[in-house]
Amino acid sequence: MFDKLLKRKEPPADAGRLSAILEEEVPAHIAIIMDGNGRWAKMRGLPRIAGHHEGMKTVRKITRLANQLGVEVLTLYAFSTENWKRPKTEVDFLMRLPEEFLSSYLPELVEENVRVTMMGSEDSLPPHTRNAVRKAIDETQDNTGLVLNFALNYGSRAEITDAVRELAVRVASGELTPADITEDHISDGLMTHSLPEPDLLIRTSGEERLSNFMLWQLAYTEFWFTKTLWPDFSSDCLMDAVEDYQRRSRRYGGLKGDGMT
Ligand code: FPP
Repeated sequence: MFDKLLKRKEPPADAGRLSAILEEEVPAHIAIIMDGNGRWAKMRGLPRIAGHHEGMKTVRKITRLANQLGVEVLTLYAFSTENWKRPKTEVDFLMRLPEEFLSSYLPELVEENVRVTMMGSEDSLPPHTRNAVRKAIDETQDNTGLVLNFALNYGSRAEITDAVRELAVRVASGELTPADITEDHISDGLMTHSLPEPDLLIRTSGEERLSNFMLWQLAYTEFWFTKTLWPDFSSDCLMDAVEDYQRRSRRYGGLKGDGMT
């Protein structure tokens, strides 16, 4: 739609750099808060939706690279429960994007062995959005490569509240006592119960906050922030993030090795 205005092409990911990254441990689960689409468009005198459209192309590029890197799960924050507060035209456009993305790229995702999943409340999604996502989930359910997990109409506090409510019901029925409840009970009640916790969280656009995203799951995740706006987030940016992750020492509250580091 805006492609005539935006003639942009990115060179393929640097193969040497890619293989150096593959020598080290690659994060199994990368979660991304894709921010800055609106500002990207505004800087070009374009409507905000042009930024979202360009952001959709970044989703394709980053999905492909994550798959090449052997990442197991890529979770993308595509629409929060708070995003309904935006103007109706923008919400309507955002609700069309999964459909547009999947109608263009579903065959490619199938081909590349990607499995599409979604976390968030499906109920208040428009039927056309829900159906497009459902179709992608169904058609890719047997794929064994990267899990592309869209957070769509997702809010972490609501997710945790639902898990706690579920446990309260089990306690009320006598199945569990309050003393039986462990952290695993909460984790198992979340929409991510079958996924590893994120190893690396990326947020673009210079904002450094979580915006109600995976609050429980990110307890020991490494954070990586960049000023780059999501439509400009390149393969090199993802490789920068992963290389930085590979230099970090994860201690999970304990000490590493000889206890001196
Ligand atoms: C935040 O940028 C971005 C969003 C609320 C939407 C993110 C959606 C996409 C990148 C496209 C999703 C694609 C698929 C395939 C579902 P912002 O609008 O808040 O930017 P701003 O802070 O500059 O205004």
